[in-house]
Amino acid sequence: MGLYRWLLIVAVMVGPLWPAPVGAQPAASTSEGAGETRIDRLLERMTLDEKIGQMTLFTSTWAQTGPTMDPAYLDHVRAGRCGAIFNAMTASYTRWLQRIAVEETRLGIPLLFGYDVIHGHRTIFPIPLAESCSWDLAAIEQSARIAAIEAAAEGIHWTFAPMVDIARDPRWGRIAEGAGEDVWLACRIAEARVRGFQGTDLRRPDTIAACAKHFAAYGAAQAGRDYHTADVSERTLEEVYLPPFEACVKAGVRTVMTAFNEIAGHPCTAHPYLLSDLLRGRWGFTGMVVSDYTAINELVPHGYAADEAEAGRRAVLAGVDMDMQGAVFLTHLRRQVERGEVPMARLDEAVRRILTLKEELGLFDDPYRYCDEAREKRVVFSARHQAAARAMARRSMVLLKNDGGVLPLRPNLRSLAVIGPLAEATVDLLGNWHAAGDGSKVVSILQAVRERVGPGCQVRFAKGCEVEGHDRSGFRAALAAARDAEAVLLVLGERENMSGEAASRVDIDLPGVQNELAEAIARLGRPTAAVLLNGRPLALTRLHAAVPAILEAWFPGSLGGRAVADVVFGDHAPSGKLTVTFPRHVGQIPIYYSMKNTGRPLVADQKYTSRYLDCPNTPLYPFGHGLTYTTFAYSDLQVEPPVVDGGKSVTVRVTVRNTGSREGEEVVQCYLRDLAASVTRPVKELRGFRRLRLAPGASATIEFTLGAGDLSFRRADGTWGWEPGEFRVMVGGSSDLTLEGSFHIRDN
Ligand code: NOJ
Repeated sequence: MGLYRWLLIVAVMVGPLWPAPVGAQPAASTSEGAGETRIDRLLERMTLDEKIGQMTLFTSTWAQTGPTMDPAYLDHVRAGRCGAIFNAMTASYTRWLQRIAVEETRLGIPLLFGYDVIHGHRTIFPIPLAESCSWDLAAIEQSARIAAIEAAAEGIHWTFAPMVDIARDPRWGRIAEGAGEDVWLACRIAEARVRGFQGTDLRRPDTIAACAKHFAAYGAAQAGRDYHTADVSERTLEEVYLPPFEACVKAGVRTVMTAFNEIAGHPCTAHPYLLSDLLRGRWGFTGMVVSDYTAINELVPHGYAADEAEAGRRAVLAGVDMDMQGAVFLTHLRRQVERGEVPMARLDEAVRRILTLKEELGLFDDPYRYCDEAREKRVVFSARHQAAARAMARRSMVLLKNDGGVLPLRPNLRSLAVIGPLAEATVDLLGNWHAAGDGSKVVSILQAVRERVGPGCQVRFAKGCEVEGHDRSGFRAALAAARDAEAVLLVLGERENMSGEAASRVDIDLPGVQNELAEAIARLGRPTAAVLLNGRPLALTRLHAAVPAILEAWFPGSLGGRAVADVVFGDHAPSGKLTVTFPRHVGQIPIYYSMKNTGRPLVADQKYTSRYLDCPNTPLYPFGHGLTYTTFAYSDLQVEPPVVDGGKSVTVRVTVRNTGSREGEEVVQCYLRDLAASVTRPVKELRGFRRLRLAPGASATIEFTLGAGDLSFRRADGTWGWEPGEFRVMVGGSSDLTLEGSFHIRDN
């Protein structure tokens, strides 16, 4: 790593050692040439303090009375010592702050306003993990688009999203924020989210800059404990954790956020290889790198710097352009530049990237273009956005189990019991990171169900228990409510703050006494369905054994209550598929479908094969699993040609038939396995999917084309590409229900 740092220092002094970046270019500088000139001129006039100010990001806060700003930060803005603010919003407040920067500072450089717009701004969409279960890239893009439209109307220029960390440990609370465990699907979703936030033209006032985070391997936190060490092999880094970031860069993402964690001894916030050699040199990223919240300061407790001055020096030399909240650059950089410890060229490079982003957003042309009260009133929480959020919530839900067709419930029931600690929840429906979402505007599942069934159905509600704790005193009332009901709906799960940042759990079963409540209710023998609100895969072995039907609703957002009612009563058939494996037991973690075979794959009843004594190897619900209100049959898998020259494509065809009595949607999934290679390959890897809507009895033939890119991996010699040999193709409606075929790639 010492070599990387040395190379970087030389690079910033004498110019880049790598080829010119090829990523997205700033609109103004390429089309008019004017932007570059303006930024050049500005840079020439800037003092050292003003440059450091552009590299400094401070937070605004919300008090009971509304937005406020720490007076010390305000002084920094006035003095040109702070170029960006996060957590500030509303058109009028950001206009007020912007006016200070533009009119009261020496150079009048506009502020950049950032915010965690993660799954909606005022209209909250389902949590990102839930959205990924829709396998609907257009809907995911639209969700990000709407979030950008609302955020931009409230003065925000920049979102700290998408979070593209692959996560395979459901103990880790931030699994809620990503797109699940699969690399290929996560890449497609990352691209869709970047497109949605940034649109096709960042200069449009309804687009905002995206931020790919957290670079890198944050999802590999040991034992699922947030901020913990990642120690992954170079291969796992390259094949699993990095591809979604590269996909974002290719999609033109304008910013990247460093991760809190270290990888094998090197904290990501001062990681020259990641932040410079790879991101800039290999991928050609031209945008700006921001640290995570005080992540530069945290290099000291990491044991990577003796004090904050050293931390700042290591971070800036590694390639961090902006310091989030830590004030390390502000406090130490001036002296370090004056002493020659940090070259001015490195600051100029960082400041140029930040100013370029401001230029790309059109802020030098009109710093107030995002502060438009009329637009804010018109677009925020509009009927159109609410309709989109409701549609997305319906599409994100996954029907995990439905024995005996308990769901959908008949809307003309005469009595229904709604039981559970989350039936009346409102804010919890929004999920973690619900930005500016307003819980008071949320309709609970209980209320939505009441309104859906109307006065003809007696809806009896009892909470039964709390989400956590051991109080069973509510069981009696719950049992009384459920005893004579024609059907029972249980609403169970986690509170919204039990996933997300700093919300890891070691026990991922339903918390508290909820399983006991479900078991007691199920023993009554009424048709019972459980609706789950949660931000991570739970180990649902007990609930699965107790109740015949389970609908995974995740945290479904502002319109989540209504969307649950839509699905439960069959106005909309569920069609989500899991993008993350649900284990039977926490001890199976990490468990994911694209595992390796081992030299001793499981053989039933054979001791010396790879297995547990006390639990099957298989998950409770596999990746790709999800039922609907009809059934589908797969047949006639054909792979053509069976033998093909290297570099050529094969075509995979399969026929899918709706074998039930309702129209339904299916996500047809195509997996691949390279049977023998220079390094071992996973037992299956997703390589494509198609959404399909079929009437009862109707069938369709689906085609996938697998080309050289689909067969490529990081070979033993470190290069990417395919190798000749035998490949297995698997197609089905889940990762464990597949038809199989094969083909052979000839060496040429
Ligand atoms: C810390 C989180 O890790 C990051 O994802 C977020 O964007 C920042 N805080 C700002 O809120």
